[in-house]
Amino acid sequence: MPRVALPMLGAGAAWRAAARRLASHGIAADQVSWARDGAGASLFDDDPLPDRDGPRPVIASKPLIALLETVICHDDPQAPSLAYQALLRHQRDRRAIANPADALTVRLQALAKSVRRDIHKMHAFLRFRELPGAGPRRRFAAWFEPSHLIVERATPFFARRFGDMDWIILTPQATARFEQGELTFSPPPETRPDLPEDASEALWGTYFQNTFNPARVKIAAMKSEMPVKYWKNLPETRLIPQMLADAEGRVAAMRAAMPSQPPAHVGRILDRLARAPLPDQPQSLDEAALAARGCTRCSLCEAATQVVWGEGDPNAALMIVGEQPGDHEDLQGRPFVGPAGQLLREEMAQADLGPVWLTNAVKHFKFRPRGKLRVHQNPDRGEIEHCRWWLDLERRFIAPRLTVALGGSAAYALTGRADRLTERRGRIERTLDGGDVLVSWHPSYILRLDGLASQAARQQLRDDLALAGRLAAQGGTLPPSPDGDPPRDICTKMKGPALAASGRHSYRERHEISGFRHTN
Ligand code: URA
Repeated sequence: MPRVALPMLGAGAAWRAAARRLASHGIAADQVSWARDGAGASLFDDDPLPDRDGPRPVIASKPLIALLETVICHDDPQAPSLAYQALLRHQRDRRAIANPADALTVRLQALAKSVRRDIHKMHAFLRFRELPGAGPRRRFAAWFEPSHLIVERATPFFARRFGDMDWIILTPQATARFEQGELTFSPPPETRPDLPEDASEALWGTYFQNTFNPARVKIAAMKSEMPVKYWKNLPETRLIPQMLADAEGRVAAMRAAMPSQPPAHVGRILDRLARAPLPDQPQSLDEAALAARGCTRCSLCEAATQVVWGEGDPNAALMIVGEQPGDHEDLQGRPFVGPAGQLLREEMAQADLGPVWLTNAVKHFKFRPRGKLRVHQNPDRGEIEHCRWWLDLERRFIAPRLTVALGGSAAYALTGRADRLTERRGRIERTLDGGDVLVSWHPSYILRLDGLASQAARQQLRDDLALAGRLAAQGGTLPPSPDGDPPRDICTKMKGPALAASGRHSYRERHEISGFRHTN
């Protein structure tokens, strides 16, 4: 049986020459034994092979050669033999190597992956130390312990990266030397050399300490990225045990030092806001607006810039309720001043509405940060329900004759019903506080539609607003509610001086409207 002894240096070329010769004579894989005999071993020590190539042409594609040359760098003693099997297989079936279900291919790919990973780790974890010297070029040395026979494949990277210095990389397998721009290889040192400590070790330590995030300590991930076997040769890893021990304390300190100040643009807004004490039990619309500024009923207050309270005529018979402030509204502190607001205000002008109170179901902007953008997110039911406390208060003081709900969130806030809007739009429903609400499209929804659909929805919003304007301006008697009870008089909740001072009529007085079409 021919025995092929591969040298430690130049193993790739030696394997290629031997494999080609064996294959050209049609020698089966199980008829050859492969060994790595270390530096200086010669090819074909027990060589019974003819001294020239045989009659069979040997074919190998470029991807196959690249794969096999990587595989034979693997430390596994089987690697050269497996590579030879693949070469023989290729002579019979050119597609076998590309078949991901083929057992030999799977094994070769796994070996090659492990070699590539080892090369990557050498590039990442090799640390040079400067050697003393008076020559024109600085000199460095490094000790590294790779898992596979990769020195010849991995070190050209350092020649490209550190071409302006001379260096030597010592490993248990081979030595790579780069001098005056030339890279050469020689056998390994007999023992691990003592390299001088050098100043760059402290730099590595500082770098590592500064990039170490104690709040993101994931020891398993760290060990997978920087396997423990490399630690002993890395100056910075000596710091790891102490850094891990300190991590918890540092996280606590980071938390304590977290900024409690809002972003810069908020400063101006906060300066504008009155610092008056917030009233607990608002007795007027103004007090309610003031109290809402300190609202912490849900978590939206944490990220939003400010509460966006309603605006308009506090004596208006018509209230229009949107979903929540958007980016523009959050910064300006006014409802409907962004693109959706522009559309709404245009349609309100077209519909020739009288006095209106314009507000939202949710008073804080809900968003998800994406880079510098704040992307709108719909409020969830819990947030709408928390904020209903403010909407109810606002409605109690405004006491509108009719309310328009723009979109699903407003309709849910006012009626407690979350059914689809397509079946509800244009109809009047009963609010939770016993009032009347006309449901319509939200202007943002219209902005998202295209062409004819957008025009049609816009026309419907205009029609709804015009109807709402007419109904709110009318007088008349409300039809009895479905259970026969008279409508709840929400204005009677405004008792005493507040109601007297408002000079307004009660809810029932103001809802003397006939012809409202109730659907609930
Ligand atoms: N969308 C709303 O629902 N309200 C606003 O204030 C702005 C956009």
